[in-house]
Amino acid sequence: VLKVTEFVTVSEVATLMDVSVTQVISACMSLGMMVTMNQRLDAETLSIIAEEFGYQVEFITAEIEESIPEEEDLPEDLEARAPIVTVMGHVDHGKTSLLDYIREENVIAGESGGITQHIGAYGVTLKNGQKITFLDTPGHEAFTAMRARGAQVTDLAIIVIAADDDVMPQTKEAISHAQAAGVPIVFAINKVDKPTANPDKVKESLANMDLLVEDWGGKIQSHDISAKTGQGVQELLEKVLLEAELLELKANPDKLANGTVVEAFLDKGRGYVATVLVQAGTMRVGDYMLAGTHSGKVKAMHDERGKAIVAAGPSTPISVLGLDGAPQAGDKFHVFEDEKEAKSIAAKRTQLQREQSVRTQRHITLDEIGRRI
Ligand code: GTP
Ligand code: MG
Repeated sequence: VLKVTEFVTVSEVATLMDVSVTQVISACMSLGMMVTMNQRLDAETLSIIAEEFGYQVEFITAEIEESIPEEEDLPEDLEARAPIVTVMGHVDHGKTSLLDYIREENVIAGESGGITQHIGAYGVTLKNGQKITFLDTPGHEAFTAMRARGAQVTDLAIIVIAADDDVMPQTKEAISHAQAAGVPIVFAINKVDKPTANPDKVKESLANMDLLVEDWGGKIQSHDISAKTGQGVQELLEKVLLEAELLELKANPDKLANGTVVEAFLDKGRGYVATVLVQAGTMRVGDYMLAGTHSGKVKAMHDERGKAIVAAGPSTPISVLGLDGAPQAGDKFHVFEDEKEAKSIAAKRTQLQREQSVRTQRHITLDEIGRRI
């Protein structure tokens, strides 16, 4: 039995199982996952990997997690929420260009004066008033780190494929991540403004992978676009919204907030800044929050344009000041009525993490001694 916390990394797992990091990395690769030493694995993957080496995983944090109150939502408490969309695809196929184009096109007049802060997620309001929240993290993180212990945040994936290129390794990886997570895909066949673009070739490659897009008689949405000229982008977003409607995304805004950490860092002047995505409930300045092994009172919240806000409902990305440390991408966060509870859970998690790292360090030392002999 392999006793681990949810924060266990690839290298720690290797040490605990007494195998090399390379062995664990290649085991992940055979599952179609590219991982690095310091990356965390989601529960599902961890179990599969451990089993391959003859171990059974037991999460020692389970008991603590059960003490986090999970309010049941009544159907009448649920309200429609904006879809959360991740853009993925092969290197240079135009993910950033697409996100930039969408963001610029949809900045509300008058607000454009403010400096756009880089936060790992942002919301856009389309001309018809509909909202979409984009996760601007390197695409795959949203599916790996963020899937740690089932913290799935993405509702939909836009997979960008350059029409002057083809379905590439990272395109395939993105497709399998989305499929594994059960997230609907909308293909954006990009760079159609280029004379060398051949969207049909891309669609044929997809068809050969059993992925039939609409104009090939299939069910998967796809749209030819140019992130450079903006051609087709509006239609692509409409298809995304159509797909989102089928999901009937809802959340209860009238409870203490919970959600997922997108990224966090230490800012010299402001202290720890965490970008979080509220997934349910409403987050307010003054709330007590717990995120991973850290807690704190929310001192201030800002949107992606740096504007201070006092309350944020479901599907809203915000940056939060007030945590006593930087949680990791993919950590769930919860708001508590009382500060003590948040603090005590954070302390228990820290303790477990410390114990785990002591256990793994001891192994490393023995290992090193072995090597010296
Ligand atoms: P990585 O973040 O490195 O994986 O790349 P990316 O997928 O974000 O691609 P990026 O948006 O940086 O675009 C790569 C290059 O393709 C840039 O030089 C863009 O200007 C160019 N590009 C992106 N979209 C288009 C397009 O629709 N048409 C043309 N002609 N060029 C494009
Ligand atoms: Mg990019």
